[in-house]
Amino acid sequence: MKNQIFIMNHPLIQHKISLLRDKATGVKEFREMISEITMLMCYEATRDLPLKEVEIETPLAVAKTKILAGRKIAFIPILRAGIGMVDGVMELIPAAKIGHIGLYRDPETLRPVKYYSKLPSDIDDRDVIVLDPMLATGGTAVDAIDIIKKEKPKSIKFMCIIAAPEGVSLLTEKHPDVQVYCAAMDEKLNDHGYIVPGLGDAGDRIFGTK
Ligand code: URA
Repeated sequence: MKNQIFIMNHPLIQHKISLLRDKATGVKEFREMISEITMLMCYEATRDLPLKEVEIETPLAVAKTKILAGRKIAFIPILRAGIGMVDGVMELIPAAKIGHIGLYRDPETLRPVKYYSKLPSDIDDRDVIVLDPMLATGGTAVDAIDIIKKEKPKSIKFMCIIAAPEGVSLLTEKHPDVQVYCAAMDEKLNDHGYIVPGLGDAGDRIFGTK
C-alpha cells in the first residue's frame, strides 16, 4: 500500500499549534495544548474504525444504530516526548493498550540504538498508532516502526504534531504502508536536526527540563 499523508489543518488545531510555537508559552499550558491537539488528531486518525449495527431500546422505540466493532488499538509513544501525547488519545480511547519505545542516537555511528521497548503482548491482534510530536530527520520513527513491525501488528499509523519534509520523505520511503498524520508541515531542519520554525525541543517543553 502507498503512504497516505494527512495534514490536519483544522482551524482549532492551527490555533493551538500557534500557542505551542510561542516561546512564551509555559510548561502547564504547553502540556495542555499537546493533549488537546492530540485528541483532535486522534478523532481524525480513527475515522476508519469499523462499526457494527446493533439494536438499542430508546424510551420510545427500538433504534437500529451503530457501535464500534471492537477493533483493538495500541498507542506506542516514542520516549520521551511521545509520552506527552498519551493523555490526549486516552481521553478518546480509554481501553487502548500503551507500549513504549526508547531510542537514542549513537554519537559515533549516528544510528538509533534501542534502550527500551515494552509492547503489549497481544500487539499482533491490534492496530497500532505510534506517537511522537516531532517528525524531524525521521530516523527514530523509521527505527521504532521497524521494531514494532517485528511483532506483526494488524496495521500501523504514525501521528506527529509538526513534521519536517525530510522526515516525511524518509518515513514514507522506508515504510510505504504506514499512514502519517501530522498537524503542520514546517520548512526544514537546521544543522542540529531541529525543525524550523518548529517549537524547540518538545521533550524539554513538555517536562520543563530546560
Ligand atoms: N525533536 C524536537 O523536540 N524538536 C525538534 O525540532 C526536532 C526534534
